[in-house]
Amino acid sequence: MLAYLALAVLPGLALAQHVLIVTDTNAGEVPSCVAQSYHGTYGQPLRSVYVPSQECLESINTDSLFGSFESGHLDVLDFDPEGRQLLWVQVDQVDPSLLESDTQLANDWFSTWAMGLTTPNTPSLILEDTESVLRTQSLAPSLHYLSADAALLSLALSVPFSDLDLPRYVSMYSLTRVPHSPVPFSTRLFSVLAAKPTFDPSVASVLSTLSPARMLSDVRYLTGEDGIGPLTRHSFSKGALTAADWIQEKIEASGATCEQKTFLPGFAPNVVCKYPASGNETDRVILSAHYDSRGSFGSTPAPGGDDDGSGTTHLLSIAHAIQEKGVVFQRPVELVAFAGEEQGLFGSKAYARELKSKNVSIALMIQADMLGYHAPGEPAQLGLPATIGSPAAAFLVSNLSSLYAPELIVGYTYACCSDHQSFHEQGYTATQVFERAGPIADPMYHNSGDFSNRTGYDVEQIRSIAKVTFAAVLYAAGWELGDA
Ligand SMILES: *[C@@H]1O[C@H](CO)[C@@H](O)[C@H](O)[C@H]1NC(C)=O
Ligand SMILES: *[C@@H]1O[C@H](CO)[C@@H](O)[C@H](O)[C@H]1NC(C)=O
Ligand SMILES: *[C@@H]1O[C@H](CO)[C@@H](O)[C@H](O)[C@H]1NC(C)=O
Ligand SMILES: *[C@@H]1O[C@H](CO)[C@@H](O)[C@H](O)[C@H]1NC(C)=O
Ligand SMILES: [Zn+2]
Repeated sequence: MLAYLALAVLPGLALAQHVLIVTDTNAGEVPSCVAQSYHGTYGQPLRSVYVPSQECLESINTDSLFGSFESGHLDVLDFDPEGRQLLWVQVDQVDPSLLESDTQLANDWFSTWAMGLTTPNTPSLILEDTESVLRTQSLAPSLHYLSADAALLSLALSVPFSDLDLPRYVSMYSLTRVPHSPVPFSTRLFSVLAAKPTFDPSVASVLSTLSPARMLSDVRYLTGEDGIGPLTRHSFSKGALTAADWIQEKIEASGATCEQKTFLPGFAPNVVCKYPASGNETDRVILSAHYDSRGSFGSTPAPGGDDDGSGTTHLLSIAHAIQEKGVVFQRPVELVAFAGEEQGLFGSKAYARELKSKNVSIALMIQADMLGYHAPGEPAQLGLPATIGSPAAAFLVSNLSSLYAPELIVGYTYACCSDHQSFHEQGYTATQVFERAGPIADPMYHNSGDFSNRTGYDVEQIRSIAKVTFAAVLYAAGWELGDA
């Protein structure tokens, strides 16, 4: 099928600068110049995106490349992908128990929107650049790939595209070229796993200081439910800046040094907090959440109590426990609150790229995104990513869960894509913890009603998951008690 498509399309290649390929074949299995044009993996089923240049395709046997794909889609691009923004827009996978009217809205919106994109009425604008050379740049989005539940489009760099334009259950990811580096073995993580973690009463004693009451009080600030905190933490809002200062102050009170790192104009910063290492500076351990949030379609209030106030409050309570117990880490440990997650993992992409460019070694990275909700009647759960992430990292989390939080039912989830993906793409050992061993079931997902005071929001589940992520940090970083 694809080979046929390739033949049909490739004659047009003379006009192309690049060819966009969406396929189920991963970057380890394509020629190296194609792998170097890797733009990440999205959707469910997973699809990888490549944007090789015409030069690259001319240098390889395209018949055998396309013949090796089980499925795929090609589009000829007459522009340099660096000069336009590429966006993946998808309908999220959610549990069938969620309101059919909402899922229907997402599907209807998606098909109407996609139909609008396929109708060619592209207004174009003549722009004059500095050398007074006339060039045209299409301001309307162009569609390059469309399936029943996902689309890939390109937009002029100057055109903002915001999650505010999307209904709930529809998410967007900005695509940029990511190095295809197979995740190298984290030797530190390997030695922790090889030692077969066993129950350690001193770890349990540290974990016992995690306080659900503190978590609830912190999340009520983050959602504004306490009447003091911001009403939105949307990446572009003042509320997010207020939250960033507050998070920084709380984590610094626990002995870390924090920095607010700006990554893109207009976005709230990442809050990156680091504890000093008593021993080796290599093998950093990073535990993160995203503090930005998203509200209902076109609506400003975005309390984000579950997504991701729960992951953020889990970070704060771990910070507090570190201080209360006087934990000193042997390797560097960072607690990071990302922004720009809802617009396409922008904050974490920038930070992971920075660490990679500085050749920072990371033993383990864990992203906590949505820890607070389980359907009434369901037991407390812990979901690990079925697709994106490192199995070794998931093994450690799962092993420690059985030791320190046996009350959690551990399983895998296809709910996809959070800030760990940015680290995974840079070749770091990363995983995610999620509230459910299954698809998203939170009826307030991406909704302005995502408060902590509702049925199903379970702060005990957040505490249980925090025990597991904190234990993973203790095991991976090594630790001792200081003189607090
Ligand atoms: C939960 O808190 C929100 C915001 O303060 C409020 O509007 C809502 O009525 C509360 N819901 C319940 C069930 O108390
Ligand atoms: C730090 O760890 C690395 C890798 O495990 C090791 O090669 C190095 O010798 C260590 N340095 C110190 C000062 O312990
Ligand atoms: C990056 O770090 C590794 C080991 O941590 C080292 O072998 C390598 O030479 C470093 N590369 C650069 C460019 O500093
Ligand atoms: C613990 O980790 C090992 C790999 O080191 C894995 O084989 C095993 O399934 C894990 N156990 C649990 C309960 O997750
Ligand atoms: Zn989230």
